[in-house]
Parts: sequence; structure tokens; C-alpha cells
Amino acid sequence: MVFKSIIFASGNRNKYIEIRDHLKPLGFEILFGGDMFCLEIEETGMDYSENAMLKARGWSEISGLPCLADDSGLEIRSLGWWPGVFSARIASTDRERNQMVLSRMSDQADRVCRYVASFALIFPGKHSLWLTQGICWGTISRQPMGKAGFGYDPIFIPKGHDRTLGQLGLEVKATLSHRSIAASALVDMLSSSSMIK
Ligand code: IMP
Repeated sequence: MVFKSIIFASGNRNKYIEIRDHLKPLGFEILFGGDMFCLEIEETGMDYSENAMLKARGWSEISGLPCLADDSGLEIRSLGWWPGVFSARIASTDRERNQMVLSRMSDQADRVCRYVASFALIFPGKHSLWLTQGICWGTISRQPMGKAGFGYDPIFIPKGHDRTLGQLGLEVKATLSHRSIAASALVDMLSSSSMIK
């Protein structure tokens, strides 16, 4: 079966906007899952890749279409790489999550952190699974700054910059983010495969 579309298996429109343009070279229409279903897959995996696979498989079984899922998080070196896979669950809103991170970091001199994103793409019936990962290094700011992006972006200063992603905005984020790197790796991998020829 020849597929023309891939569902981005997420209800997070911010993530969809971030990956859509990067995947254009694949020649597939990239559909936003949140416009199609409301599907909550429990993230019971031990790491990002396992959670991404669970989401891609769940969405693909329901839709019968190729599905791409992302699982991602923030990791802080001086806090033992916390919150990691729990990044979405340490408090109930982005604002509270940022406050919790800043209060745990209040006496930390080492503010090094990274965003990690794992992608899993499944083509149903072809028994094929594609996995990529992207990492974006940075530091945690002293206070939230800027309103662009989502999640921890107002407290994340990417390496080589002196402002947060909340201040730098989506155009800059697209050039360096963990999600952009994972998306480009997927394009490289698929472009050299027979799957899209
Ligand atoms: P997921 O939806 O299970 O992948 O959860 C990822 C969580 O990690 C999000 O809810 C955010 O809290 C955080 N996160 C991952 N990527 C980003 C990003 O690009 N910006 C800000 N926060 C992010």
C-alpha cells in the first residue's frame, strides 16, 4: 500500500508546528493528530523512545495510517537529569512546572540542561519502525523570560545564546531545537530508504 499522509500522533499543536516544515522534504502530507482523534496513550515506557513507540503504535492501530510520535523532556545536570521523562507531570501547568524547576535551582551554580526528543515513526503493515533522537543543550535562566513557545521555553537558554527560547521565538528555535534535530535525522534516514521511493 502506498501512503500519502503521516499522522503526527499528538494533541500538542506547538510540537506539530515545530516539526511540520522540517518534514516537508519527505513529500508526505503531515496531519495533526489533535484535529482527528482524542487519543490518550499511557506513557508507561522507561525512556523517551519507548514512550514514542507506544504512542506511534497506538495511533497507527486505530487509524491504519503511518504515525509519527514524539516524546520529549527537559533534563538538568545538577538535579541528576531530573525531570526527564516526567517533565510533563511534575505539576499541573507550565507556569507551575517552571516555578518548581526555578525553586529547585535557586542555589545551584551549575545550570546546564538539555532538551531531548525521541521520534518513532510506524508504517502499518510494513513491519517498519524508524527511531531518531535530538538533543539541544542549554542552561536554566534565573527567572522566566518571554512568551514564545511552550513548556519550559521561558526558562531555557540555548547554548550560544543569552536569551531564553521564550524570548528568541520559534524561528530561532527551529534552527536548533531537539525536535528539529530529530526531524532532520528522520528525513535523512527515510530519504535513503526504499520506503518513500
Ligand atoms: P511529552 O508530551 O510527554 O513529550 O512531554 C514533554 C514535556 O517536556 C512537555 O510537556 C514540556 O513540559 C517538556 N518539553 C519537551 N519539549 C519541550 C520544548 O520544546 N519546549 C518546552 N518544553 C518542552
